[in-house]
Amino acid sequence: MSETFSIIRPRVSNPATNPELTDVLRMNVAVKRANALELLHAIAEEHGAVTFANSFGAEDMVLTDLILREGLPIEIFSLDTGRLPAETYTLMGEVEKHYAAKLKVFFPNTAAIEEYVRTQGINAFYDSVELRKACCHIRKVEPLRRALAGKKAWITGMRAAQSTTRADLPVREYDAGNGLEKYNPLADWSEQEVWAYIRIHAVPYNALHDQFYPSIGCAPCTRAIAVGEDIRAGRWWWEDPQNKECGLHVKK
Ligand code: ADX
Ligand code: SF4
Repeated sequence: MSETFSIIRPRVSNPATNPELTDVLRMNVAVKRANALELLHAIAEEHGAVTFANSFGAEDMVLTDLILREGLPIEIFSLDTGRLPAETYTLMGEVEKHYAAKLKVFFPNTAAIEEYVRTQGINAFYDSVELRKACCHIRKVEPLRRALAGKKAWITGMRAAQSTTRADLPVREYDAGNGLEKYNPLADWSEQEVWAYIRIHAVPYNALHDQFYPSIGCAPCTRAIAVGEDIRAGRWWWEDPQNKECGLHVKK
């Protein structure tokens, strides 16, 4: 008889994605939800042609839930870089089912990415900040320009507390680079409030968040964080903190 072995992995629960839902927290989230909804309605009314950039991260799932559950007249799009983690594609499928919605996805320009890979290499983004930014440009920034064409305003899920590069994030700003208004409705939300919203409203979310990935981008450029690390420490972890933006969100 052959022996059977089983690997027992310790179960570590992630308190960041499962905050204790105290009355105070529930109340804060209810107030912030109402404010965010009011703002989203006002944005749609003022600008008409509005689009929301959905990366399927935790914050973006809050906005996705608000927009789709409330039937707001706001388009939702995503940038599929071609290097997203498998868990993100799984979530995309879940979102389609959960909200009975079809996704609007923009892909990189085929000729540009073929040229980059042929001349620089398949994982050239590890070689220098310039090559990393060039990859982000082809896979994210150029497709973003197409996604924003003809729009009067766009919406992101950024929060001020996410990183040093976002500390002074306003709720509304003019995006001079793309020539339209930009809104960050969750600018003043805490990570705890985001997760409380997700739990209270049973919103689908990326399985990687439970594995200590608070911020998720492309698979080769994202890792889990250790206890005490900054929540964006797992993004482009080999670079200096001030470089950790991909060009989607350029400051004036
Ligand atoms: S990133 O710019 O460094 O990648 P982050 O992952 O924190 O930033 O996302 C910030 C916001 O940028 C998201 O809330 C979302 O609005 C937008 N965004 C980032 N990646 C994508 C993507 N792949 N598709 C659509 N929007 C995205
Ligand atoms: Fe390329 Fe990494 Fe930027 Fe994704 S995050 S576009 S793989 S450099």
